[in-house]
Amino acid sequence: MTTWLVTGGAGFIGGNFVLDAVRRGIRVVNLDALTYAGNLDTLSALEGHPGHVFVQGDIGDADVVARLLAEHRPDAVINFAAESHVDRSIDGPAAFVQTNVVGTLSLLKRTRDYWRSLEGEARDAFRFLHVSTDEVYGTLGETGKFTETTPYAPNSPYSASKAASDHLVRAFHHTYGLPVLTTNCSNNYGPYQFPEKLIPLIVARALAGEALPVYGDGRNVRDWLYVGDHCSAIARVLEAGRVGETYNVGGDAERENIEVVRAICRLLDARRPLADGRARESLITFVADRPGHDRRYAIDASKLKGELGWAPTVTFEQGIERTVDWYLDNQAWVNRVLDGSYRLERIGQA
Ligand SMILES: NC(=O)c1ccc[n+]([C@@H]2O[C@H](COP(=O)([O-])OP(=O)(O)OC[C@H]3O[C@@H](n4cnc5c(N)ncnc54)[C@H](O)[C@@H]3O)[C@@H](O)[C@H]2O)c1
Repeated sequence: MTTWLVTGGAGFIGGNFVLDAVRRGIRVVNLDALTYAGNLDTLSALEGHPGHVFVQGDIGDADVVARLLAEHRPDAVINFAAESHVDRSIDGPAAFVQTNVVGTLSLLKRTRDYWRSLEGEARDAFRFLHVSTDEVYGTLGETGKFTETTPYAPNSPYSASKAASDHLVRAFHHTYGLPVLTTNCSNNYGPYQFPEKLIPLIVARALAGEALPVYGDGRNVRDWLYVGDHCSAIARVLEAGRVGETYNVGGDAERENIEVVRAICRLLDARRPLADGRARESLITFVADRPGHDRRYAIDASKLKGELGWAPTVTFEQGIERTVDWYLDNQAWVNRVLDGSYRLERIGQA
């Protein structure tokens, strides 16, 4: 039976990935520190499931990681654990360096030691997959796309910390031979995303009939990928990616932030009209831009598509509808994850 050590598997993407992996018969050991962004509620469907072992702990805790590796003998380590919100990295960059850089380094060291202890087939087949972001490449103008050879130029403390972790992963391959893979993905959306990120934040505020804050002129462009498609890309890279390579993952769904917000308004107006009959677009409020806000990201995923035959299966229109419906159906989840420490307020203004 295949066993994976997944870190950050109580977060948004990691949670979706774990749910899918366990359903596919993979045994998952899930190491997550349960920061504000990690929620066991996301994994409630797996309660008591023999294919899922949850361990609360830090990727930077060398003893815990060494114990889990020795005890469970995983075939792969998949690293989702991170501080992931750009606005929070503006207010407090140190936590990002601690988890994303120092924590990843510690995880790499323990994984290298474990991998060295393996023999034959198990050693050959072992993989360390690092989940990263397109934000490491910096910002684009009106045209062009990020490829795997675009030079790194991170602009936020978040992307700088992810860039550092990507470089460490690369170095562990070149220096120690650790069989690594890295994926650099565009913006994700879908079920179980913490409501501080654009799409769930706008859904929550629009549902409540509150002002909808849009940074700057709202014309910043992101390439949106439905989370299930990101998970399938990671699984495919793990299965067939070339060791030491990086793969860009994107949804071919570039949208301006304002377009995303308008789409949510239209979907909610159709499903839950406001009592006074106003269109929710009238709630849109342009607010001061995020400091250093990257203008445009776009991903060229042709390497992943051409070499490994992956393709996104959900269009933006399908995905945003599914996502809005999921949040409408799962308000209890939203209320539980907003435990009082975060109340949909503006953060990260430098
Ligand atoms: N969300 C996106 O659009 C996106 C896009 C590309 C790449 N990524 C990357 O994917 C990964 C997951 O992103 P997400 O959006 O699911 O993030 P998230 O913030 O929803 O989840 C992160 C998880 O990591 C856990 N965690 C944080 N610090 C930890 C530590 N020191 N030890 C163990 N666990 C820890 C948290 O408890 C949480 O469950 C991140 O590495 C992120 O950089 C995210």
